[in-house]
Amino acid sequence: MRSWWWLGLMLLQAANSDPQTSSLGNGCSSDVPKDASNFGSNLTATFLQLRANLSEGNKFATAERIVSPDPVYAMAQCRNYLSRTDCLTCFDAAQVAITKCPNLGARAVFDGCFLRYESYDFYQRTSEHWLTCEDVSSTAAGFSEVKDRLLSDLEVATPRMKGYFAASNRNTIVYAVAQCALTVTQLGCRGCLQAAHTSLQSCRDATGGRVTDVACFMRYSNQSFFPDDQTTHLKLPGKGIDEKAVIGGTVGGSLLFVIVTITLMWFKFSRQLKNALIANILGATQLQLPNRYSYTDLKEATNNFSEENKIGQGAFGAVYKATLKNDTVVAVKKLDMKHRRAKADFESEVRLISNVHHCNLVRLLGCCTKGSDLLLVYEFMENKSLDRFLYGQNRGLLSWKQRVDIIFGTAKGIAYLHEDYHTTIIHRDIKPGNILLNHHFQAKIADFGLARLLPENQTHASTNFAGTLGYTAPEYAIGGHLSEKVDIYSFGIVMLEIISGRRPTDVTPDSTYEYLLKEAWKLYERDMHQNLADVALNLNEYQVEEVKKMVEIAMLCVQSTPSSRPTMSQVIFMLSGDGSVVVQRAVRTPSFSYEVGVHIDNGSLLSTQESASESDATTLLTQGVTDLEK
Ligand SMILES: *[C@@H]1O[C@H](CO)[C@@H](O)[C@H](O)[C@H]1NC(C)=O
Ligand SMILES: *[C@@H]1O[C@H](CO)[C@@H](O)[C@H](O)[C@H]1NC(C)=O
Ligand SMILES: *[C@@H]1O[C@H](CO)[C@@H](O)[C@H](O)[C@H]1NC(C)=O
Repeated sequence: MRSWWWLGLMLLQAANSDPQTSSLGNGCSSDVPKDASNFGSNLTATFLQLRANLSEGNKFATAERIVSPDPVYAMAQCRNYLSRTDCLTCFDAAQVAITKCPNLGARAVFDGCFLRYESYDFYQRTSEHWLTCEDVSSTAAGFSEVKDRLLSDLEVATPRMKGYFAASNRNTIVYAVAQCALTVTQLGCRGCLQAAHTSLQSCRDATGGRVTDVACFMRYSNQSFFPDDQTTHLKLPGKGIDEKAVIGGTVGGSLLFVIVTITLMWFKFSRQLKNALIANILGATQLQLPNRYSYTDLKEATNNFSEENKIGQGAFGAVYKATLKNDTVVAVKKLDMKHRRAKADFESEVRLISNVHHCNLVRLLGCCTKGSDLLLVYEFMENKSLDRFLYGQNRGLLSWKQRVDIIFGTAKGIAYLHEDYHTTIIHRDIKPGNILLNHHFQAKIADFGLARLLPENQTHASTNFAGTLGYTAPEYAIGGHLSEKVDIYSFGIVMLEIISGRRPTDVTPDSTYEYLLKEAWKLYERDMHQNLADVALNLNEYQVEEVKKMVEIAMLCVQSTPSSRPTMSQVIFMLSGDGSVVVQRAVRTPSFSYEVGVHIDNGSLLSTQESASESDATTLLTQGVTDLEK
């Protein structure tokens, strides 16, 4: 009886067993050992030790023989969802693959495990990784957004998990795992996964992708590749970024935005087939502390901060184009922080910003302090800022498709700041001047986190106001109430601006002299909002429908009641949806009251009215701009 039971278990195990030994790549170092036979026997000894360790049920092990002339350091990892037996099977396969290489270092990467040895201590390294993207074939609509959000969640949750491992799925549409080597710190784990996620974004719409690094592993797929019972409950800081919240989220008693027929969503669009892409990204991971640049170097790189090198002047200081000694071109922002926050505080803020990595956010490469000056070094954006393409010489250069992509990219960048980074970052100054474009016209948001460098106390409008009139939500401009919804409002205005090619502070050319927002409401209420489209655009019928949908989403964002505005993930959901996503109607709130006295940035008092209608407030604010400019 007993033996039958045992056999049954064996069969069951065999049926469920999958050591995942499909190879993702091998590598061999070119250095050879000085004493090959001793090296060989030491290597075998470390492998035996690793195997013994894994057979205890561990999923991670290191072993070393630190002897001259050729020390050995070895590391083995199994994905935590593998059974003990599968882990050993995978390890054995990796060992076979790796011992074909007689040199001083080698690695074998499988889906299920990873084995590497070197003659130096590489345990903490996060400096190289291998990216594999699967074919692009009919992914469901919205797949890549859902995937991105899941990977972002894993990026945050995994470093907090015991064993640095998490496996999860989102709506059974996307499956993903993340794992870190137990030899790295929590911050190192997070950094490695961030870089892995960034690399995976280059897989775009592929149905699956993997990044293997010494320090971490990240994989996603459209189908499950781990047993259901290995699914981890993700511990996310503060908020549950749950797909439920995205789909038809209930926003405290106010409007609902999305009525969805979700099931329809995932079976659309078929896409081109693309060959599997294997890339070797070296040096892609650079994290943790911000790089320090020397003042002398930056001074030289910017021609002593010359006028010719100046490429912009933002709210926080001037920006210069700088060519570093190694010929890299960067942008240097020079902030004068004399009356700002204490220095120590400051450094922690800069560190926070420098660890934000997202393809729609301008990357902070490092910093430099000199007296009261703080210099921030950013990646350089060839096409500068969006406003240069909406107005002036380049007006009308952006196609409708490009505009949609810019709107989408901006939304993703903001969503990352609000929902995916480990602390919520409210930008406070979303406007075309802060949306930079790279050579592919991909949108990247600049200046995020800088408002955090201002003194604390954001609750009162008179102390500091980081915003630009015309883009600022009324409750923030007038009452000083700061929340993520402040950015949503500005984003809505920017959307209208991108669609119409008009500044929010410009009046209509005809005799009505309407501001953009007021005109948008007017057209929207008469169901004529397609007329808002930039006359410089040449739209086909299909695009006209899209313009209408875009305006509708923008109007939800610019509602005067903050709680009625959608969250950024809801915006992305609506933007990425097809015809089955019904965008609810926005409501123009008739009246709204605010506190007495508003100080704007330079201290000028703008208004002393006790209460006014919202449109009055908008007019007041936009007129304020004109007054200030005079
Ligand atoms: C490892 O190498 C050292 C010298 O290089 C040698 O003395 C020793 O016997 C080797 N150890 C094993 C387990 O083979
Ligand atoms: C297995 O390896 C890990 C990581 O190097 C180590 O912490 C642990 O003590 C080892 N366990 C055994 C049983 O050798
Ligand atoms: C996942 O993508 C593959 C192609 O890579 C496809 O053959 C398969 O049907 C997809 N599976 C699901 C569940 O969508």
